[in-house]
Amino acid sequence: MDKQNDQSRMDKIVSLAKRRGFIFQSSEIYGGLNGFWDYGPLGVALKRNVKDAWWRDMVSGHDELATLAGAPSPYEMTGLDCTIIMHPQVWKCSGHFDLFHDWMIDCRESKRRYRYDHLHGRWAAHRGKKVFVTTDQSGDEAVPDTVAKAQKFFGLRAKQVDEIEWGGGLESLQAVVAAGVASLADALGPDAAAPGSLTEPREFNLMFETRIGALAGDDDDRAFLRPETAQGIFVNFKNVLDTSRVSVPFGIAQVGKSFRNEITPRNFTFRSREFEQMEIEFFCKPADSAEWYRYWRDRRWKWYLDLGLTAGKLQLREHASDELSHYSVGTADIEYAFPFLAPGEFGELEGIAHRGDFDLRSHMEGKLVRKNGELVVETGPDGKPRHRGSGKDLSYFDDVSRERYVPHVIEPSAGADRGTLAFLCDAYHEDEVPDADGKPRSRTVMKFHPRLAPVKAAILPLVKKDGMPEVAIDLYRALKPHMACQYDEKGAVGRRYARQDEAGTPWCLTIDGQTLADKTVTLRDRDSLVQSRVPVAEVVDLLRDKLA
Ligand code: GAP
Repeated sequence: MDKQNDQSRMDKIVSLAKRRGFIFQSSEIYGGLNGFWDYGPLGVALKRNVKDAWWRDMVSGHDELATLAGAPSPYEMTGLDCTIIMHPQVWKCSGHFDLFHDWMIDCRESKRRYRYDHLHGRWAAHRGKKVFVTTDQSGDEAVPDTVAKAQKFFGLRAKQVDEIEWGGGLESLQAVVAAGVASLADALGPDAAAPGSLTEPREFNLMFETRIGALAGDDDDRAFLRPETAQGIFVNFKNVLDTSRVSVPFGIAQVGKSFRNEITPRNFTFRSREFEQMEIEFFCKPADSAEWYRYWRDRRWKWYLDLGLTAGKLQLREHASDELSHYSVGTADIEYAFPFLAPGEFGELEGIAHRGDFDLRSHMEGKLVRKNGELVVETGPDGKPRHRGSGKDLSYFDDVSRERYVPHVIEPSAGADRGTLAFLCDAYHEDEVPDADGKPRSRTVMKFHPRLAPVKAAILPLVKKDGMPEVAIDLYRALKPHMACQYDEKGAVGRRYARQDEAGTPWCLTIDGQTLADKTVTLRDRDSLVQSRVPVAEVVDLLRDKLA
């Protein structure tokens, strides 16, 4: 599919998400708030199903006695629910206070703000005038955007566009400025009419800041909304160890909100300022950590496939060594070809990182830096730790090997909103179905995996008479305690099927004249459109089995 088709597909998905109550702009009646999204009735069920599937597959349903395929040994899994606001020292020791920033650049003319690393540009010249035209567009839209901007800047008509001389392809603005090939004074900002309006880049910490207490004012009251759920797990490592019977290797899982003051939120919910994460910190013996890293990378990859994401749209990308965080010995991203990206581009759904002992040591000793290949406590000009750790012993005594060590950590860190968006995009299909007269009718159908579908079954009396609603209501009441289902008697049955197809309901149960005669209903399968007759008495067990 080409870029234009993909963009129009994305537009249709966004429009369906709004129209059918999957996702709304936050505070929409006041014009919305950039980077914040609300989930409507179908969306909240979809996202909850994504989180529930993750929790069940990773935590509550985990078989602690078995050695799962690819795992070096059996392991335990447990969970936590930590606060969003934590002691400010947590973020100082984790490195977020000093390092969790992006470079931003402002435009004095348009008053717009951009992420420096998102700006690209190229030299354009016309009749002795030369300018470095920049764009904040990505993929296939970037080059046409620079052409349109250069045309406007040089005051050319459409047929004169070929007169522009281009000095090569698109390059990162950051890179050309660093190399001295262009200066910010030469650059025409993405929304500016004249060059030289871009300010020097500035660091911008992505953590949202707040104050604690009514008399908040001095620096001690400063606090942050967590930018990841992970740190709550590290600082509770000892609590979990002391209060439960877990032993290494084991994982602690958490699902919850995280906040990042993204400079340029974009692409629907993909880059939001408030979002949910599903994170596991898996603690293991240092010598076994590389094996556990590979296990979690493959396990998490399989999870997305098992829940129906198209294999050809998923990519597992191992980071090159120069891409790794200073503490990591391996990281892989699971990425999805979202329709808003250019062909060949992928967006991150989840990162699986080998974090070594960086986090537990940071919270014991203080903020760490790598020096001569070793992690050491960073010191200030006075020789004291720049950010002091808790001083608590977070090491582990291994009863089997009789050794004491600081466990190494493997972190599968997934975004619940990004996962939900990928499942939403992947589910979107357009096809043709025969209408009541057998003529082909185009339909939009959301082919969610049944575990993720917001509504599992719809119960539809063919007509609102002849005792059909009564049988349908009884069936609805029998099914409802077991799964999300809907009763719908409004409109022609074809219209009702179409409504359920758009909601992604895998099964429709129609009560018709034959039901009254032989106590069977029609079971319509959303994807194959096959209709079969099933005894009413067997419906609950049949659908429960299909969902298991
Ligand atoms: N504890 C590690 C960590 O937070 P990350 O790669 O920064 O790693 C993990 O985030 C996941 O959280 C990402 O793979 C993505 O799914 C999700 N995520 C991160 N920033 C996000 C944002 N601004 N909007 C939506 N999801 C985001």
